Parts: sequence; C-alpha cells; structure tokens
Amino acid sequence: MTKADIGLIGLGVMGANLALNIAEKGFRIAVFNRTTARTREFVEEAGPLADNIVPCETLEALVDAIGAPRPIILMVPAGPAVDEQIAALDPLLARDDIIIDAGNANFRDTRRRMEALAKTGPRFIGMGVSGGEEGARHGPSIMVGGPQDSYRRIEPVLEAIAARYKGEACQAWLGPDGAGHFVKTIHNGIEYADMQMIAEIYGILRDGHGLSAQEIAPIFARWNEGRLNSYLVEITGAVLTAIDMDTGKPIVDVILDRAGQKGTGRWSAIEAQSLGVPATAIEAAVAARSLSAMKAERESAEKRFGIRVPSAGKPGESALADLEAALFAGKIVAYAQGFSVMAAASREFGWNLPLGTVARIWRAGCIIRSQFLGEIADAFDKAPETENLLMTSAFSAFMETAHPHLRRVVAQSAEAGLPAPSLSAALAHFDTFRRARGTANLIQAQRDFFGAHGFERVDREGNHHGNWNRG
Ligand code: 6PG
Repeated sequence: MTKADIGLIGLGVMGANLALNIAEKGFRIAVFNRTTARTREFVEEAGPLADNIVPCETLEALVDAIGAPRPIILMVPAGPAVDEQIAALDPLLARDDIIIDAGNANFRDTRRRMEALAKTGPRFIGMGVSGGEEGARHGPSIMVGGPQDSYRRIEPVLEAIAARYKGEACQAWLGPDGAGHFVKTIHNGIEYADMQMIAEIYGILRDGHGLSAQEIAPIFARWNEGRLNSYLVEITGAVLTAIDMDTGKPIVDVILDRAGQKGTGRWSAIEAQSLGVPATAIEAAVAARSLSAMKAERESAEKRFGIRVPSAGKPGESALADLEAALFAGKIVAYAQGFSVMAAASREFGWNLPLGTVARIWRAGCIIRSQFLGEIADAFDKAPETENLLMTSAFSAFMETAHPHLRRVVAQSAEAGLPAPSLSAALAHFDTFRRARGTANLIQAQRDFFGAHGFERVDREGNHHGNWNRG
C-alpha cells in the first residue's frame, strides 16, 4: 500500500478537522485515536475523503503506515497527555522522524521535550494552530517552531492546508525550539485582550446606555465595516443577534457571566512579567476572566456596595464614535504590548523571530485575524527592526487621533462605575509610556531611604545615596 505522507494522533474536534483538511488537499494521512471506535467512526464520517485516510488501530501500525522520515501530528490535550504520547512513540521512531505537537502547549514544556528528545529520540516540532474547529477544517493559521529541516519535510502539507490571505499561505517556520508555541501563546494573550475590550464596550452600551443585545449587534456589525474589521468584532455582532431557542431571549442574556480559560492567556502574562515587558492590557484581560469566575463573591459585593450607574441614555453618533475609537486605541496598545513581548523573548532565547511574518500569518485563519494585522505587517515591512508598534509612523499617527476618545471613554466609565479594566490599562500604559519624566525618581528615593539601594542622578554619572535627614 502507498505510504501515508503524514500521521495524526488524536481525533477530537481539532484533530479530526485537521485530518480532513489534510486529506482533502490530496495528502495521504494515517490516523490513530486512543479509542479505536472513534477512529472507525471518523473514517465512516469522512465520506470520499476516506480514500486518503489510513485508519490505524495501534501505534505500531500508524508508524508503519507513514513514509520515512515520518511526521506525526499530536492533537491531544496539552499537558501530561503529550508527554505520555511522546513516551509511547519514541521507541517506535527513527532519529529523523518528527513528532509535531499541534496543541496549545506551554513553550517551556516544548523546550523541555525538545531537549529530552534531542539526545536519542526523534525530532520535535512545536506547532501553534489557530482558528478553532472551522480553521482546522478549512484553513488555520500555523506557527511553527523547531528544527528547520524537519519543518521543510512538512512544509508542503502546511502550505496546502493553511488559511490564505490574498493567495499567501498563513503558515511559517518562526524559529527554533519553542518559538512556534510562544508565538501562539502571545496570539492567545492578544485574543484575550481583544475579547475583553470588546466586552467592556458591550458593557458600556448595555449598562451605561441601556441598550439591548439586539440594539448593540448592529453597532458592532457597522464597526466591522470600518477600521475595526476583524473576525472577533464580526462574531460579536452575530453572537448578539442570536436568540435562545428555549426562552426566546437573546442568547447572551441567558449565558452566565463566568468565562473559562485554559492557560495560554495566563502564560502570556507570566512570560511578559518574567521578561520584564509591560503587557498590562493583556494582564488586565486575564485578571478580568479570573474575576468573572468569582461569581458568588461578586454577588455578595454587589449586595454590600450596590451599583448606581447613571443612565447615559441612547448613545448619539459622537458617543458611538468615541467607543469605536477607544476600542481601536486600546487594541493598538494591546498589540504593541504583545509584539514587544515577542521581541523580548526573541532576544532572550535567540530565536530571531520574524515579527512581520508573525503579523502576516495572522491576517487570515486565526481568531484575531483582522484588517489591522495587515497594517501591522506593513509597519514591520517598512521598519523590520521595530520593537514597539506605538513608535511606528502608522501606529503613532493612529494613536495620536484615537487616544483622546479612549481617554473620554475610560474617564466616563470610571465616573459611572462601569468596569473597563483592559481599556483603562491600555490608556495608563500609553500615558506612562509617552512621559519622558516619570515618577520613579520618588521610588528610587524610597528604595534608597529604606534599603540604601542607591540611585542615579540627572546631573552626573554614578550610583549615589541621599542624605535623608533621618533626625
Ligand atoms: C485559537 C484559540 C484556541 C483557544 C481558545 C480557548 O487560536 O484557535 O486561541 O487555541 O483554545 O480560544 O482558549 P481559552 O479557553 O483560554 O479561552
């Protein structure tokens, strides 16, 4: 029998859709699932694509079915399941075979796995895949990290299955070791900030202006036609129009205000902190999810403190223009922070991350896909060494016109008692960043006062101490 081009382990939603995508593009794919019944069911459901699928009931059969060097995609839950799968495959594989972890792994785990396998095992690739179920089936954005020669072996498959932006495939090798999973983690951190800021604007419209879900939906739909054009704004409009079959109410009104999280947003914030890069708009979004989960505490707090939001009435065109521009300005800061985290990680780990390419492969397929990413890609094309988007000519000009709106929205929300943590964090970041003389002179003085930590002076070199007149 003709050998398969590639293998895949894990026929859950993402794995099954990715396998169908691969089969549809004319590649022969061998598949294995822990429960054999699922493998059989998958092949039955594959219709004519089953001709390109080789169902395998054991790992040995899977390995045997693939042409060497064998690439095998793991689409199993991130964490111990990946280690277990690697341990089971390792003895069956040759040195130049390639295990590809396509889950949302922590890049530190990816580095550890790569290092462990480097001694005696097969090659290892950490591959970020974004786009959810739809993306996996019809074209995800794919972020690859690991040995470049192993990437070359799978490049034709990735090139064929990835989303396309004006004909260009949204997949790339981004660097060695954990680079691919790191970039996917930051993608998700930005996704958190994007979603949180949209939710904050929704909250202002719902609780400040008293609009119903159906009244808010067309606002997002209209914004999606302009500079906020993006998948997340588009689906927000769609989500807000959907009706719950059981109650006849807008479905968002019957969904509990408690959001889950699987870890990638949190890892973005952790990595930003450990690299010493401010990513406050992202951090605020992660914290907002955690606070959302504290439903019972929030209910008690509302009883204790009450909420008195003055009604702002229906929003006029200028209020809507403020909200639209505030969302745009907040988004600029969140993306600038995310890209700065990637720039710092690239330096720290010696990855040489191509940030322009990252922006380019995010233009289609992934959850944060948007027109805006095209503008980011252009900014990096013009200035490839850019480490801070806020300082590029395009984004500094956008920010110059948008920040007064962000300021108004944040100020009015604070005054009304409406939470806007991610938008506020973005504004605070901008205001702190653009101030040449900040207030850390006082922090330095305090540190020297209580701990003799020393400080630098504005008028001479060296490390100095104050004469603090302690009496
Ligand atoms: C993607 C998404 C995806 C992620 C979900 C849920 O790029 O396709 O980021 O990878 O798993 O968005 O993430 P949370 O459960 O952390 O919200």
